[in-house]
Amino acid sequence: MIPKWVYIKDFKKYIDQTVEFRGWVWNKRSSGKIAFLQLRDGTGFIQGIAEKKNFDDETFENIRKIKMESSVILQGTIKKDERSPKNVELHITSFKKVQEPIEDYPISKKDHGIDFLMENRHLWIRSRRQFHILKIRNEILKAIRDFYNQNDFTLIDTPIFTGSIGESAGNTFKLDYFDYGEVYLAQTGQLYLEAAAMSFGKVYNLGPTFRSEKSKTRRHLIEFWMNEAEVAFYKHEDNIKLQESLVSFIIQRVLENASDDLKEIGRDTNKLQKIQLPFERMTYTQAIDFLKKKGFEIEWGEDFGADEESVLASQFEKPLFVEKYPRKAKAFYMQPDENNPDVVLCDDLLAPEGYGEIIGGSERIWEESILIDRLKEFNLPLDQYQWYIDLRKFGSVPHSGFGLGVERTVAWICGLEHIREAIPFARTLYRVYP
Ligand code: 4AD
Repeated sequence: MIPKWVYIKDFKKYIDQTVEFRGWVWNKRSSGKIAFLQLRDGTGFIQGIAEKKNFDDETFENIRKIKMESSVILQGTIKKDERSPKNVELHITSFKKVQEPIEDYPISKKDHGIDFLMENRHLWIRSRRQFHILKIRNEILKAIRDFYNQNDFTLIDTPIFTGSIGESAGNTFKLDYFDYGEVYLAQTGQLYLEAAAMSFGKVYNLGPTFRSEKSKTRRHLIEFWMNEAEVAFYKHEDNIKLQESLVSFIIQRVLENASDDLKEIGRDTNKLQKIQLPFERMTYTQAIDFLKKKGFEIEWGEDFGADEESVLASQFEKPLFVEKYPRKAKAFYMQPDENNPDVVLCDDLLAPEGYGEIIGGSERIWEESILIDRLKEFNLPLDQYQWYIDLRKFGSVPHSGFGLGVERTVAWICGLEHIREAIPFARTLYRVYP
């Protein structure tokens, strides 16, 4: 009888049973009589043991000399072993190669530079640390979807090609779109979510966005994933509550379902456990006063850079909302504060530990005349925004929303030094390969 194909994650359920393993050998060591193969199959990592006495000489030599990253199909018995990290091992009784590498595998245990690793990203994602980071990313994306599904939001997939610039005109990717002429890759799906909120009430999206930013920082990608939400009748305060519930939900989920992955990458989970509701809050004006006291040369009206954000957020162990920025420093669609029209009802959520802004959100202008004035102030072509202006003509209501940067969130939760490891294939200023 052919034994059942079992994944490593389920090995514990098959103690003392004979199973089939399908996967890869990522490392090995051997003595004369015994070979230890480090195995992986996409669900985990485990040690396989082959004893000379169970094989003919040629097969045992093949096992002993097997090259790193060979693909194999093995049969063996799962044994309990308290000394091995997963408490189980595979005692191999039958061995078959699917493919032995044609060349030596380029990634080894030695210290490769980051450029080499990024150049070999298609292989690097097999390495343990990268594997666990991308598993945590997967858990974060699952949590985001579950949060909205549990809270009665409707998923609205917003377009990638657009004629209406959603954020700064300075960092758009331009394309020639048949007879239509110039269009842009979406920097945000927000404007479309605003349309959808007037039909479905509570909506969200989750997809790639594009910004042609010449920033070469550890927080910027050219192509990054954003999760945006938009809710009809929500005001600034409701918006803040929604954002903090989402972030807290994500953290709880990762702690529940990916604590092994966090441990494998050496993340201090105590720091994540401290992320409890409510989050910290400060107005932009209070933040400027604080920064001035700390010696920063910054004037009211200027936006914060990475250093300012780090100093502001590192006062706290929880994320910090900075709210009510100057109208002039922010996007055209934000609702002015009726108590002080020089500021808008917006917020940036800054993650602790120096990770900077992970969310940008605001209450939106919902009256036609105010919106038209703002579009003119920003020199935006009214004809391209006619549909967006229309939304303010037919049963318009106050509404609010936000966008969460997926990779910045992953980088923070995993404690990464650079955002490029938070996405499977990063697009940065100098890299679109592989
Ligand atoms: O603050 P931003 O620009 O907000 C918007 O685009 C709004 N239209 C969202 C909305 O209200 N629906 O971007 C949102 C988030 C930022 O807080 C940041 O986390 C992330 O997107 N982000 C980036 N992440 C990686 N690389 C970049 N170049 C990023 N630019 C923004």
